[in-house]
Amino acid sequence: MAKQLDKFKNVLSHAKEYGYVFQSSEIYEGLSAVYDYAQNGVELKKNIREYWWKAMVQMNENIVGLDSAIFMHPKVWKASGHVDAFNDPLIDNKDSKKRYRADVLIEDYVAKLDAKIEKEVKKATKRFGDAFDKAEFLATNGRVIGYKEKGAAILKRMGQSLEKEDLADVKALIEELEIACPLSGSKNWTDVKQFNLMFGTKLGASAESAMDLYLRPETAQGIFVNFLNVQKSGRMKIPFGIAQTGKAFRNEIVARQFIFRMREFEQMEMQFFIKPGTQKEWYEHWKEARMKWHMSLGMGEDNYRFHDHDKLAHYADAAADIEFRFPFGFKELEGIHSRTDFDLKAHEEHSGKKLQYFDHEENKSYVPYVLETSIGLDRMFLAVFSNSLQEEELENGTTRTVLKLPAVLAPTKAAILPLVKKDGLPEIARKILEDLQWDFNVAYDEKDAVGRRYRRADANGTPFCITVDHDTLEDNMVTIRHRDTMEQQRVKISELKDIIAQEVSFKKWLAKM
Ligand code: GAP
Repeated sequence: MAKQLDKFKNVLSHAKEYGYVFQSSEIYEGLSAVYDYAQNGVELKKNIREYWWKAMVQMNENIVGLDSAIFMHPKVWKASGHVDAFNDPLIDNKDSKKRYRADVLIEDYVAKLDAKIEKEVKKATKRFGDAFDKAEFLATNGRVIGYKEKGAAILKRMGQSLEKEDLADVKALIEELEIACPLSGSKNWTDVKQFNLMFGTKLGASAESAMDLYLRPETAQGIFVNFLNVQKSGRMKIPFGIAQTGKAFRNEIVARQFIFRMREFEQMEMQFFIKPGTQKEWYEHWKEARMKWHMSLGMGEDNYRFHDHDKLAHYADAAADIEFRFPFGFKELEGIHSRTDFDLKAHEEHSGKKLQYFDHEENKSYVPYVLETSIGLDRMFLAVFSNSLQEEELENGTTRTVLKLPAVLAPTKAAILPLVKKDGLPEIARKILEDLQWDFNVAYDEKDAVGRRYRRADANGTPFCITVDHDTLEDNMVTIRHRDTMEQQRVKISELKDIIAQEVSFKKWLAKM
């Protein structure tokens, strides 16, 4: 646990030191759970967004994009259920006066059981060596089974109690598990109460005429209210999808863990409109497709798992999370939700407009069912960034800090380094820069010894360094150094563009899906 915390601290300080993420309004002591993306962060974020967009929109003939407004008519949120049901169950500790999400306290308790299982696995791996069969151990070890069953029973009870709005039972569960306030250590809790997460604002010139609005808490509703507009103008046939990326806002009470849970964040969502009755097969399809997208980035199969929901949101008949192993444990990264016809029907009712599709094959109209995939861009950023940040022991006994970002996502693809600041080497390096920058984000660096410049590029996540030396003057060749292996290759300047393109192309990475 201490190691995990250290790792997380390193992630935070590295993100700041290397120009990835800054606290918002830092000179005014910051604004809690609001962050700014700096010069490298904005590039990484853009590349993740593009990686998603290409996989979802460009590579699927039947999925199109949308960019709907953040402000929407207030009736949208009444119809969607957010006004009445977009709540978090909150509980206060009477001694520390600190407010918590009751479900998060319980989930953290279960996460500790998961950590105990991992400890058992580690111990057994050491004990049995090569003969260790992890799957068999997990299925048969008494202690592991006990932890698993206990965790599952707790989550099931919590899910059922929240579903029934039985907040007294949620409090009873916290008391039975003897969960203490992490700050005061006391178990002196208030009752659990619901708290709406939407931010309110006003539209209009005067106080009397102003209209109460909400900042959207999800991008999905912009897709639902445009469903027929897109279907008709694009002559879309079911099944088809509409995708969008954009800001969402939630007044999160437990706002911690850096950019994992923010008050202003960005979502990448896709609503897939389908024939009623086919939702099960499409649910399985999108679970698999989205997991493959994650796998294509090569961040380790063991770092992902599915979590099927016991507690379903007000709109869903099935839901699963793709969880990722963040530095603070496995947590939700993406949701796949079978949303039925809840949203379109609710918008029909509240707007008085028909939102139906005429199916020529079936010769009838119906309200489509919807399969949703929804991932937080900032959360994906944290997954990629934290997984890539590594301390490596080198053969010569030294260590290096390296940010092994997947090359396709790296903000800067190559750093161009003249070995010395004289003898015509900077001029050649600048010429290479000017040539490559038509196709890639590249940087020029001539300060310090070349070894230090390599380390700087490693820590920055730059996959290639290109060094111009005195031999270059004779043979028009340069040294290309690969960040992850530190291998160096002598190549012709004229080949550089193809070598880099090959390694950073979206096609190369997405083709792994
Ligand atoms: N339209 C469905 C929806 O919004 P959600 O599970 O509430 O579902 C989807 O959110 C994804 O959005 C989550 O899996 C997470 O990646 C991201 N997300 C949600 N709340 C967030 C927050 N406060 N900060 C950062 N990301 C968040």
